[in-house]
Amino acid sequence: MYNLTDRNIVLCVTGSIAVYKAVDLASKLTQAGAVLNVIMTPEATKFVAPITFQSVSGRCPYWDMWDANSNLAEAHIALARQAEVLVIAPATATIVARLALGLAEEMVSLTALATRAPLIVCPAMDSQMFEHPATQEHLTTLRNRGVQIVGPEDGRLASGQMGRGRLSEVETIIGWIRHVLGRGGDLAGKKVVVTGGGTHEPIDPVRFVGNNSSGKMGFAVAEAARDRGADVVLVSGPSVLPDPVAVEVLRVRRAAEMRDAVVAACVGADALIMAAAVADYQPAETVGEKIKRRQSETLSIPLVPTPDILAEVGVRPGLVKVGFAAESRDLLANAQQKIEDKQLDLIVANDITASDAGFAADNNRVVILDSAGGRAELPLMSKYDVAWHILDKVATLLAASKLQPEA
Ligand code: PMT
Repeated sequence: MYNLTDRNIVLCVTGSIAVYKAVDLASKLTQAGAVLNVIMTPEATKFVAPITFQSVSGRCPYWDMWDANSNLAEAHIALARQAEVLVIAPATATIVARLALGLAEEMVSLTALATRAPLIVCPAMDSQMFEHPATQEHLTTLRNRGVQIVGPEDGRLASGQMGRGRLSEVETIIGWIRHVLGRGGDLAGKKVVVTGGGTHEPIDPVRFVGNNSSGKMGFAVAEAARDRGADVVLVSGPSVLPDPVAVEVLRVRRAAEMRDAVVAACVGADALIMAAAVADYQPAETVGEKIKRRQSETLSIPLVPTPDILAEVGVRPGLVKVGFAAESRDLLANAQQKIEDKQLDLIVANDITASDAGFAADNNRVVILDSAGGRAELPLMSKYDVAWHILDKVATLLAASKLQPEA
């Protein structure tokens, strides 16, 4: 997770049973390379001992505002100044009220009042407390001040009741942190359209022509573009992956639907990156009833070409077009041909016969070719890291196009 490395994050933990999830959050942020300081309210220390956070973050948490032996003089001011983002997770009704009213009563609310870093507040409480007009009004006040409120989610609560009040999942909170930290990135102000997943071309109500694309590559590109500040639209074929945080996701099924969504999304876009494995052929017609099996007969299904989405988007000044090439042989020659046929700026070629890369794998091994004949061969790496390399090239092309005089 590139945009968390060396980033200064302050995690504030308040007194809720959901504190145990904050330990996992602290651990994952630290593993991702963040410089993590934890502040606890005295109530939070009743649920989990500070040493637990020290063990996962490698740093001693702050919780006593009267601690004369702290390694930081005026710790709340020092932490408030260092922070690039302040995350309050879990946030109780009490801390939400203190933040809204500006009451500085312990280390968390003191630091929140002192910082000018963006604030992410992740409420967790009983649903009755969450729904109370006082809590709702305080949350509205915070939202109006630009605070990012994340959750809470529906589900089983500590009381055993079902309702809204559960702390958001750790991955969701991390997604929001990445988004907030990415706001000033090199793609800030750029609109990037990404496609991912395969398409399903229906044969009858239960069968379709499809492929093994999981969506991992496209979703990774969408997340990496978001982490660099872009406004991202992800057009996805059927995929079990959850919507990435802070990305506009359009779910489609068929190539024709993907074409319509991509063409509409490309209005005003700066880049189109097509990682989707779009079916090349679709049944000439979809049968209305389920086709019956007949033992003695062979079955032929006439197929016709799907729309070529990249070709239909065409060439527009200011739009960087990136395709992927999934090849089982003659990788580079076929990819080169696709640059010309689809009028691309870049193509990302992957050999789909490799068992450790390509379809459904977490990693990929690609060669990025550009329309000027350049070539970058990348070793096996995570799909997120591949995405980052692609976006380096997209950012360079966008910067160069800004320097070109208007035609
Ligand atoms: O989703 P994953 O499991 O993570 O797998 C990732 C991947 C292997 C699917 C991905 O890395 C990849 O290679 N995607 C492109 C697959 C593909 O359709 O390649 P292609 O060579 O057939 O098509 C070339 C380009 O034209 C692609 O950018 C494709 O999106 C686009 N295309 C294809 C057909 C069509 N009708 N319209 C298109 O625009």
